[in-house]
Amino acid sequence: MTMNSASMEEELQLQKNIDEAKEALELLTRQKGRPLRSSIVTFGCQMNARDSEKLRGICEAVGFEDTEREEEADFILYNTCTVRENADQHVYGRLGILTGLKKKNPDLIVGLCGCMMQEEQVVAKIRKSYPVVELIFGTHNLFTFPKLLARILKERRRVIELWDGTDRIVEHLPVKRKYKFKSGVNIMFGCNNFCSYCIVPYVRGRERSRDARDILGEIRTLAADGVREIMLLGQNVNSYGKTLADSIRFPELLRMAARTEGIDRVRFMTSHPKDLSDELIEVMASESSICPHLHLPVQSGSTRILKRMNRHYTREDYLQLVSRIRSAMPDISLTPDIIVGFPGETEEDFAETLSLVREVGFDSAFTFLYSKRSGTPAAVWEEQVDDETAHRRFDRLLETVRISAEKACARFEGRTMEVLVEEENKEPGLVSGRIPHNLTVHFPGTKEQIGQLVPVRLVECKGFYYVGEQVKIMQA
Ligand code: 5AD
Ligand code: SF4
Repeated sequence: MTMNSASMEEELQLQKNIDEAKEALELLTRQKGRPLRSSIVTFGCQMNARDSEKLRGICEAVGFEDTEREEEADFILYNTCTVRENADQHVYGRLGILTGLKKKNPDLIVGLCGCMMQEEQVVAKIRKSYPVVELIFGTHNLFTFPKLLARILKERRRVIELWDGTDRIVEHLPVKRKYKFKSGVNIMFGCNNFCSYCIVPYVRGRERSRDARDILGEIRTLAADGVREIMLLGQNVNSYGKTLADSIRFPELLRMAARTEGIDRVRFMTSHPKDLSDELIEVMASESSICPHLHLPVQSGSTRILKRMNRHYTREDYLQLVSRIRSAMPDISLTPDIIVGFPGETEEDFAETLSLVREVGFDSAFTFLYSKRSGTPAAVWEEQVDDETAHRRFDRLLETVRISAEKACARFEGRTMEVLVEEENKEPGLVSGRIPHNLTVHFPGTKEQIGQLVPVRLVECKGFYYVGEQVKIMQA
């Protein structure tokens, strides 16, 4: 693993800050006469989920007990998302509830971090109207969390630290994984694409890639710790490596990740269609541990709208890409993100989105109502689609996706596939997991199977998921 003197110094500093926070927490623990509990709540995407595992790892290293029950926590940290307006509203609503909790427990510490905090007007509003929030930091300085935590535990006054941006990537933060058997792995941070509706480039900053040696070292460590499935994470994984001195690009990185001993499955997201190369398709098709699933956001089926979205591909480009992917991997699962009601979207544009959904036959789709994000170009365009029209189109899109996905998903009926078991089902006696194509399967099993690869016959497709039965392997 790479370790220059700057990063060594950074890690020493990190450890010092963790020790300092730990000492402060020990004092509070003695005063309370019981362990203190922290609750990290995640909003938003896989990147945030992975960041939360780091935040949780830091809390654990400092000595907090982790709890999912906010009402019993001494420290609550919301890792926020701001990609759409309703994500913001959700956080404000929850802060109201936390104000009530704080009245019952005046020692409670409430913190906010993540994408929402990179917006000046949000932080101004919280400073002014939400005194319950005592700790604020952003996406660029997540690694300063131990230092800020030490400060708030010792001094009990508002601690706010926000950075405009950073080119630093701090390795080796403690991590507490949600699942023992699978893990996300960041390969890059930020985004340079500036799609005209999207706030991510403003709140996550410019694209920067992690050193390949660090990434592969982390994957080996995870494999040694029992992880069987990894998900390589970035806003636009296909432009991995562009900011590095090394010439390594995403297809090579993916191949090396796929060949790591002990790793059975590799996934990745998100791919931008404009940067998806034939080399990547070739690597996916030739490495058996790379899952046959591509999350490939299309956003709209209309070339006119795609241009206004600043996506740099046409409807035809997308369809051609899909056909190149399918000729190499005929049964691959494809899932898009789609936005409805983008400014200027006409009935004709929307009809093109519906027809693209039918033509591609996606396995499922993440569908979003366009949400105006201030600071993005599209927010000030005049031709905003009215709410009623947008909602009507959204419902029609959902129905079209449902019909097309039902048909697509059924293609595996009767086949036996390996399921990585993830959890017990709410229904007693059933467990749930995923096939390589990312479809969920429920089948009779026990919790001992969690984390194992089990051959399962996919008996019946129920739309977006399967009901199956374990296949006994005959011993010779
Ligand atoms: N409104 C609606 N959806 C959005 N997305 C990003 N920004 C917006 C917005 N302003 C969606 C895109 C992206 C996904 C992560 O979120 O579809 O791919
Ligand atoms: Fe947002 Fe576009 Fe970057 Fe995705 S590629 S994060 S939609 S700007």
